[in-house]
Amino acid sequence: MTTKDEDLETFGDTILVTGGAGYIGSHTCKALAEAGYKPVVLDNFSNSNSWAVRWGPLEEGDIGDKGFLDGVMQRHQPKAVIHFAGLIEVGESVKHPARYYQNNVSGTISLLSAMERHGVDKIIFSSSAAVYGTPELPAPLDEECSKSPVNPYGQTKLMAEKIIADFGESYGLGYVLLRYFNAAGADPAGELGESHDPESHLIPRLLEAAHGSGAGATINGDDYDTPDGSCVRDYIHVSDLAAAHVLALGKLENGLKNGIYNLGYGRGYSVKEVLQAVCRVTGVEVKATIAPRRAGDPPSLVADPSKVITELGWSPKHDTLDEIVSTAWSWFSRQSQ
Ligand SMILES: NC(=O)c1ccc[n+]([C@@H]2O[C@H](COP(=O)([O-])OP(=O)(O)OC[C@H]3O[C@@H](n4cnc5c(N)ncnc54)[C@H](O)[C@@H]3O)[C@@H](O)[C@H]2O)c1
Repeated sequence: MTTKDEDLETFGDTILVTGGAGYIGSHTCKALAEAGYKPVVLDNFSNSNSWAVRWGPLEEGDIGDKGFLDGVMQRHQPKAVIHFAGLIEVGESVKHPARYYQNNVSGTISLLSAMERHGVDKIIFSSSAAVYGTPELPAPLDEECSKSPVNPYGQTKLMAEKIIADFGESYGLGYVLLRYFNAAGADPAGELGESHDPESHLIPRLLEAAHGSGAGATINGDDYDTPDGSCVRDYIHVSDLAAAHVLALGKLENGLKNGIYNLGYGRGYSVKEVLQAVCRVTGVEVKATIAPRRAGDPPSLVADPSKVITELGWSPKHDTLDEIVSTAWSWFSRQSQ
């Protein structure tokens, strides 16, 4: 076991955060620590860095490793698990589905089984808008919309959701499934941000282009049935996403048995609009080339967040595209100095 910040004093419950060194996981650990919890990070660093583990102990290892999980559960006796760990690339999941089913589905079963063995009875799971596949209508999606993933990544998320719900039904596991739309932005205090290598998400890629590094800005498809022809997505600031996990945890601790919530702002921006925001914020006239459509990219994915607002009391604080882009740009600029 490696322990960071050993002298960090916390007074709240211990929460095991799988994938806690990753982009959304690290921001959530910060939010948990600020809310008085003790986040224990479990990560294999397949897509992250140890510098992002700052708010509690670190357990380096894999969710598929039974002996390791038993040791972690015994050492920390968490009250709940927040399960971010997973592979996240849609395109890669099409090329290597076995890796995705192994890591995201078998890994989740391994984690749930360890929780069951050690009497840990609450979980919050990182699901995705990818479970909805290609919606028939461009209208905001509520949680009841039909689920029909169009790639192995989305399938793994839907399967993991079903497995968690079955553990709930049979073993009394309390769970919240959070379906994120497009996480973006960085910690407004500048302590954390997105750091993947290579980077595949739109905003950091456009920022790389503004900086003059990376592979250049591309728009994948400008002939979709959307107002300007480029894909429309619901970008949600990562700190608002992190805050939703703290709210969900509080509800589970106060007796919520289960819940499923979309997390987005209910407003979509096209790739071209995001590009304009990047130009506005950075002051750089970023030129993008039009590339072919990517397989499995729905024209428009926008959340209906009414349920998370009403039931969890979620109240977004960073919901403008310019704040998302400017926090990401501050982080990016500091990293590339
Ligand atoms: N970023 C988004 O917009 C988005 C949208 C929807 C859903 N999600 C989901 O949210 C979660 C977090 O996403 P992110 O963007 O922070 O990704 P990320 O890659 O930054 O974080 C995932 C973390 O999990 C770790 N990990 C992967 N497999 C592991 C394993 N077998 N054992 C231990 N650790 C492992 C990685 O090292 C990484 O630190 C993922 O499950 C992802 O599918 C993300």
